[in-house]
Amino acid sequence: MPKLSDLLFPAPLRKTPKPGESGVPKTPAPQNLKDEPPEQQTEYGRLGEKALEAPTEALAWVDQRMAASGFLTGMLFRKVPKGTNWFYTLGSATLIAFIVQAITGVFLAMFYTPSTTQAYTSIAHINNDVFLGQFVHGMHKWGASVMVILIFLHMGRTFFFGAYKYPRELNWVIGVVLLILTMTMAFTGYLLPFDQRSYWASIVGININGTGPIVGPYLSDFLRAGPEVGATTLSRFYAIHMLLLPGAIIALIGAHLYLVVKLGTTAPPWTKADKPRVAEPTTNLEAGVSGNGYRPNGAPTIAGVQVDANHGDGTAPA
Ligand code: HEM
Repeated sequence: MPKLSDLLFPAPLRKTPKPGESGVPKTPAPQNLKDEPPEQQTEYGRLGEKALEAPTEALAWVDQRMAASGFLTGMLFRKVPKGTNWFYTLGSATLIAFIVQAITGVFLAMFYTPSTTQAYTSIAHINNDVFLGQFVHGMHKWGASVMVILIFLHMGRTFFFGAYKYPRELNWVIGVVLLILTMTMAFTGYLLPFDQRSYWASIVGININGTGPIVGPYLSDFLRAGPEVGATTLSRFYAIHMLLLPGAIIALIGAHLYLVVKLGTTAPPWTKADKPRVAEPTTNLEAGVSGNGYRPNGAPTIAGVQVDANHGDGTAPA
């Protein structure tokens, strides 16, 4: 069975196995009879080697059935432009913030009760009695603000680096939806402790939504779920906060990252594009390069557009 590292790593990056590793004998075979015989490997050593290889073999087994290594290789070894810097980590930082929110949210949901009479006391119980409860609740509460700050910084980076332009407009639009969903996540989460602050802040938020043109009144009615903020409002906010929005955010992050990998990353605006290489005149054109020959300076054309006669990797066509 092929090793996973052989499937994942492109040939130039593959590690040459060292003596003793699988397939390579620990000591070279004796050159002549005077040489020492090769060291006998103990049963214990062989078992150890097998145990070390087990996880990679298991992954290779899965990969043979999923054929995911091609995608992973493409994703992990894709080219990134020169000059990328710390600003490019803001998207991943937002992703990590979201993952932290999802994990801590699952643990909070185990102890939280979305009822007007028990919500506040269940949060007090989490903070006062549950093992690490206050820590996990604190991570979730502060993590929400961290995610909002990071998403704005990430949006600022993509805006100022011109990453919203062709061909990444769709990814920008997906990002805008992610921003709205993240803000809605923060808004719906705020009511859940059902204390004085969250109650009155939610009323203010619902009323602000009501001032929107055309859809505003419908939106605030939908959010309030009745004439007053109460039990149905809390259940509705809870369902939106822990089921609807996380599902939508996960799906959109998937599409967002797919496009990031597919389209590649935008180079920083201050980096200069490489000078186009001028083709050497050649009589042996590649298939696909139109035979309508040469421009006066010797470069061939495809559909009338002057092209570089070199391959993308700089090698001349055969
Ligand atoms: C949950 C929220 C989000 C997550 C997890 C996320 C994640 C990411 C990641 C990991 C990248 C690649 C690395 C990077 O360039 O930083 C990226 C790129 C990108 N993101 Fe987001 N993002 C989110 C929200 C947004 C928002 C709100 C916008 C804009 C409105 C946006 C627009 C973009 C664009 C245009 C790119 C391509 C950047 C390039 O080509 O250089 N994203 N995102």
